[in-house]
Parts: sequence; structure tokens; C-alpha cells
Amino acid sequence: MKLENKVALISGGGTGIGFASAKKMVEEGAYVYITGRRENKLKEAAEKIGHNVGYLPADVTKKETLEALVQKIKKEQGHIDIVFANAGIGHNIPLTEIDKKEFDRTMDTNVLGTYYLAQTALPIMPDGSTIILNTSATDDLGLKNFSLYIAAKNAERSFAHTWTNELRDRKIRVNAIAPGVIPTDAATGELGRTPEEEKESEERRGKLIPAGTVGNVDDIANAVVFLASDDARYINGVELRVDGGLASVYPVKL
Ligand SMILES: NC(=O)c1ccc[n+]([C@@H]2O[C@H](COP(=O)([O-])OP(=O)(O)OC[C@H]3O[C@@H](n4cnc5c(N)ncnc54)[C@H](OP(=O)(O)O)[C@@H]3O)[C@@H](O)[C@H]2O)c1
Repeated sequence: MKLENKVALISGGGTGIGFASAKKMVEEGAYVYITGRRENKLKEAAEKIGHNVGYLPADVTKKETLEALVQKIKKEQGHIDIVFANAGIGHNIPLTEIDKKEFDRTMDTNVLGTYYLAQTALPIMPDGSTIILNTSATDDLGLKNFSLYIAAKNAERSFAHTWTNELRDRKIRVNAIAPGVIPTDAATGELGRTPEEEKESEERRGKLIPAGTVGNVDDIANAVVFLASDDARYINGVELRVDGGLASVYPVKL
């Protein structure tokens, strides 16, 4: 039990990596709150996890919705030990086609939303608690059509450095997790691939990754639990890539 009696908050916890992380944290003894915009996804996720889980819909780009969530946690648990800022969106759009609407949507969800989440949670985070940011193994790569997404993830990565310093007196550890290719609903949702295209893409990209395959949500959840636990007590301000070696061997034709 690596997270016994810890209270965690996960944005985007109703699906994909966030859901897998919530499930794993509960298995490790934590009480976990999940949030996201779609209530039906949160309800479904909470039912699957079964116990030691709470939820309330919130949009990370709307601070007042996060404030309501944090008030609920304060009332029920008194504090938050772990924040996993996981909510995020990506896209596959050439730089010449990015308009103001897409720019704002991407930056607001990934960057502003991460600020808002930390700002609202911090008042009830005790000394020694921890924040984990979800960045991307593409952070150092020149992946075409992902310029804005990668810029947003690099902004989040830099929070791992600056916030580590800003929160040092409170002994709050801030780290980032950088997933590689992890099949989730985002592939056929935000990225707009058909299921057939996604299957082909997973097989093709799997062969290019040193580990020999794309990853899965549990690979990320295991690393998130590690960073959240006392096993990582001396780890501050890092970005931990969990990508099967993908970013180490780039350029490959992804
Ligand atoms: N899968 C990968 O290969 C991969 C690789 C690198 C990084 N990542 C990062 O991992 C994170 C999770 O992605 P995923 O792959 O697990 O995809 P996902 O299942 O689509 O998860 C994204 C989550 O974010 C939530 N979300 C989006 N906008 C939100 C908003 N404005 N307010 C609150 N919640 C919001 C979504 O819930 P609602 O739509 O209900 O709000 C959803 O639960 C993202 O930050 C993504 O960039 C993923």
C-alpha cells in the first residue's frame, strides 16, 4: 500500500490515463476524487472503481467549477495530498491552419487549466504533498502538425521546474510524467483517426519503439503512483518519460 490514507485529485480522471491512475491509486490505499466535464464518464468510472472514490464535474478552464470541487473535498476530507493534473487535449493540425479558436482551446485546457487546478488545490494541500503534471514524450521532438500541443506540454514541463522552486518552503514536490504512445479514446476522438487507422498506426508505431510495442494506460498509472509515493521523496522537478524508449531514438517515422 504505497498511498495509504492519502487523498488525491485527478483531472480528466473519468477516462484513459486519468482513470487508470485513479484505479491504481485506490488499489494503493488512497481516496481519490476524479473530475472532468462529462458527468456520465465520471459516474461510470466511479462505479468501476467501486470504493474510496468521489467525483464532481468541473471544467479546468473555468476556475469557479474547480473551486466547487475543492470545497467538496475540503468538507469531506479536509485536505488534498496528491494532485494529478492530467486533463489535456491534443490535435493533429498543420501550423498554417491553427486559428485563434484552436490556439485558445489548446492553451486554455493544457496550460491555463493546469494553473487553475494547482491554484485552487494548493490552499488545502499540506506541506509535503505533491503535484504531478501530465506532459508528453514528444516534448523534445519536432513532430509535424503537433506544434501547438507540444508547445503547451513544454509550458507544463516548465512548471515542474518553476513550481518546485516556488513551493520549496512547503516541501511540495512537483514532477511531470511524459507518456509516449498510449492508446486511449483521444486517438479516435481529439486526433480524429478512424478505428482502422488507429489500429494500423499502433502496429506500425509499435515496431518503431525500442520496447517493441505501444504502451498502455497502466504503464503510466504505475509511474504516477511511484511519483506520488514516498518512494519518490527525493525526486523533485523531473520529467519522467514513460515511452518505451521512443524519444531516445527519434527521429523515427511516427
Ligand atoms: N494517450 C497518449 O498517447 C498521451 C501521450 C502523451 C500525453 N498524453 C496526455 O495524457 C492526458 C490524458 O489523455 P488520455 O490519452 O488519457 O486521453 P483522454 O481519455 O481523452 O483523457 C483526457 C481527459 O481530459 C478531460 N478533459 C479535457 N478537457 C477538459 C477540461 N476543459 N476540463 C476538465 N477535464 C477535461 C477529458 O474529460 P471530459 O472530456 O469529460 O472533460 C478526459 O477525461 C492528456 O493531458 C494528454 O495530453 C497522452
